[in-house]
Parts: sequence; structure tokens; C-alpha cells
Amino acid sequence: MKLPVTSENWQAVDHFFTAHLLPDDPVLQKILDNSRAAKLAPIHLAPNQAKLLHLLAKFGGARRILEIGTLAAYSTVWLARAIPKDGQIISIDHNSKHLQMARQHLEMAGVLEQVELLEGDALPHLRQLAAQNQLFDLVFIDADKRNNPHYLRAAHVLTRVGGLIVCDNVVRHGRLADLSQQDADIVGIRQYFELLAQTPELDSTAFQTLGGKAWDGFAISLVLAPPKSREF
Ligand code: DHB
Ligand code: MG
Repeated sequence: MKLPVTSENWQAVDHFFTAHLLPDDPVLQKILDNSRAAKLAPIHLAPNQAKLLHLLAKFGGARRILEIGTLAAYSTVWLARAIPKDGQIISIDHNSKHLQMARQHLEMAGVLEQVELLEGDALPHLRQLAAQNQLFDLVFIDADKRNNPHYLRAAHVLTRVGGLIVCDNVVRHGRLADLSQQDADIVGIRQYFELLAQTPELDSTAFQTLGGKAWDGFAISLVLAPPKSREF
């Protein structure tokens, strides 16, 4: 008999995964506890999703990672644990409270040395990184969704050929495909896909997830070639 697709049932599956594959980790747990205590929105990755990002980074031998949207550095710690000691993560967030917590959490996790935190709107920072011809092995987009098409253009400029661009929250409880929904964030997510469709230099897929984070999804693109334009 198939079980109905309810939040209770899919969360039970996530708990099963987590119990088997993701041992208790006091540092990561403390980050989530602090985030809750500080009343941050509970929008960090689910542990098994963060582990996917970690494995993608490890599989690709990533040494340099760019993260757009730090929050309290939960995913940043997972990514930092995937790169070598002399690797680097640059993570950008517009909120100084987020970054203050992030810095404490990175220090607690023993990875602060590998991470540079940039405060402010992401686009000016991204333009500066592009002007410096910086290149990353993996870019993780997880910030304000309305800017996703701009972040995708930036990520394409800033990711080496053979690198990956991963974007969180591309489904938003199915609102992606409900064209009656026109708020700026869901429109930004749709534009992300329109841009992917017009960009053969990015070899892309997307998938839906049900889990601790309800119904959402990821898009993943492999960079086959640099972008035609470096404007974003
Ligand atoms: C939201 C943002 C996220 O990055 C996420 O993973 C879930 C929700 C939000 O802004 O609602
Ligand atoms: Mg997210």
C-alpha cells in the first residue's frame, strides 16, 4: 500500500535518512539551536540537502566556493568541511546580524580561516569579484529570489568551466509552475529557468524535494563554457 504524500510521512522518511546517514553533530546542532534562539527564519538547508552540497563539492575537488546568502553559516560549515585546509569560501549576506552569528559559528566549527564573509547587497560584491577575474569551482545561490537571474549571470561569469552552479528554493511549494502567482520572488525563480533555457553553455537540471523543508527543490548547472557576455 502506498502512503499518502503528507508532511508527516515525508518527514518520517527524512528522519530515517538522517538517523542512518547523518550522525549527531554538536557543532551543526548548536548552529541550528542558536538560529532558533535568535529567531532567524528557519530557512537553512535540511541536513541531508546540505550533505548533498558537501558531496558535490568533494566530488568535484572544489577548492574555491562562492555562496550568495550566508544566513547563520549552516551550509557554509558543510561546504567548508568539503574543501582542503588551504581552500577558500567567500560568502555574502546583506544582514550584519546574520554575519555576526555566522562568524561565531564558523569559529566554533574551526573553519573561520577558510571563509571570507562579505557584507552588503550581493551584486556589487559579485561585480567586484568579476572585475578581479576571480573564479570558483562551485557557486551556491541561496539569497533573495527576485535577484536570481542576476545571480545566475554573475555565477556563470565567476564559475570555471567544469564547475557547478547550485540554486536553492526553485519550487516554493509548487508556486513555480502556477503562473497566477506573480510576486517578485517567484518571478525571479521563473526567470532563472528562462535564462537557463537560453544558455547552452550551462548544462542544467532541476529536481523537487520533499522533506524537512517541505516542498521545494534545487537547480544544478554544469558550466560547459564561459558566458558570451560578462555583463550582469
Ligand atoms: C526562504 C528562503 C530560503 O533560502 C529557503 O531555503 C526557504 C525559504 C524564504 O525566503 O522564504
Ligand atoms: Mg534556501
